[in-house]
Amino acid sequence: MASVPRMEIRRIRDDEVDAVARWIATQQADPARHIGSESMDAGAIATDLRQLEPGGLDDVLVAVDGDDVVGLLALEHDTVPPRVWWRGPYVADGADVDAVADALLAVGRARLPGHVTQEEFGADARHAWLPAFAERHGFVAEEASAVLVRDLGGDADVLRGAAAPPAGVELARVSDATAPAVVALHDAIFPGTHSSGTRIAAPGQDHAVLVASRAGEVVGYVAVERQEDATGYVDYLGVAVGERGTGIGRALVAAGCVWLHDEAGCPSVNLTVRESNRGARRLYESLGFDEERLLRPYRRGFSLAHLDTPPPADPG
Ligand SMILES: CC(C)(COP(=O)(O)OP(=O)(O)OC[C@H]1O[C@@H](n2cnc3c(N)ncnc32)[C@H](O)[C@@H]1OP(=O)(O)O)[C@@H](O)C(=O)NCCC(=O)NCCS
Repeated sequence: MASVPRMEIRRIRDDEVDAVARWIATQQADPARHIGSESMDAGAIATDLRQLEPGGLDDVLVAVDGDDVVGLLALEHDTVPPRVWWRGPYVADGADVDAVADALLAVGRARLPGHVTQEEFGADARHAWLPAFAERHGFVAEEASAVLVRDLGGDADVLRGAAAPPAGVELARVSDATAPAVVALHDAIFPGTHSSGTRIAAPGQDHAVLVASRAGEVVGYVAVERQEDATGYVDYLGVAVGERGTGIGRALVAAGCVWLHDEAGCPSVNLTVRESNRGARRLYESLGFDEERLLRPYRRGFSLAHLDTPPPADPG
């Protein structure tokens, strides 16, 4: 086993970022090393690292052995929820995986502000060594989510047709008038998830929230965004319990895809959906989405297992 006697853990240097991002991109292409939060594209990875919140490159740690970067772990953390999302760890081929990853995590944890009590990272379900690393450090593996993808070139008219809402329902961009009801609906459907409703409904250039209303009442919403690598992402989709099963969700997803294609210029769209959420998966598959991979979340200090059971079908 390779030893790493001279290994040092330190902040990444600005002049290292682009080469390290290219190295991460090669790891991302391998399911046995793929980390969930990261792009597959080197340029987007470099930009993401520079824009990490709140610390930017101050929160990107590298393990260095001599002149070689042999590992990376970045941290993105927040106050509400008091959580860190680990980006990585990545360990170079030939390096001692356990020694490098453990050392990165120890230094990363020491950097966390005291209020951060929750930790999460996610990886391809086929990752070679992350399950053992996670268990060693007190993380619990929770239900996996499928990453679904759909090409947006070519058949935008199909989506335009599918975006027609059922009779009596209107779709529109979120407005000051509808935002409070969208926030309430989001927080009721997705309690404890990474974006609170207030953040979902905030205006932004690269994202849109489309709202379905019936007789002036908000009955559903979809939140979509253009990511750093130009691909589209469906962040959240929710329909009020009493309105499910009537085609609102399908129209919202299709309309979100049309926005990503027409307004944001995205060539493709992706999303994640919990493995057990069969209804939502069927909806996405019926709109042409295909499964790319399963991502397994690892959590410590909190759990989202209360969301594991798919929401009950419309009782009506
Ligand atoms: C998932 C959700 C948005 C679906 O919204 P909806 O308005 O009920 O969906 P639609 O009526 O447009 O259904 C469209 C298709 O999806 C499938 N589908 C939707 N819900 C289903 C369910 N509970 N069981 C089986 N299939 C279902 C069906 O194939 C349906 O096609 P059909 O009308 O030909 O049968 C809604 O159930 C919801 O808000 N769930 C809670 C939040 C959630 O899970 N969001 C998705 C997270 S990724």
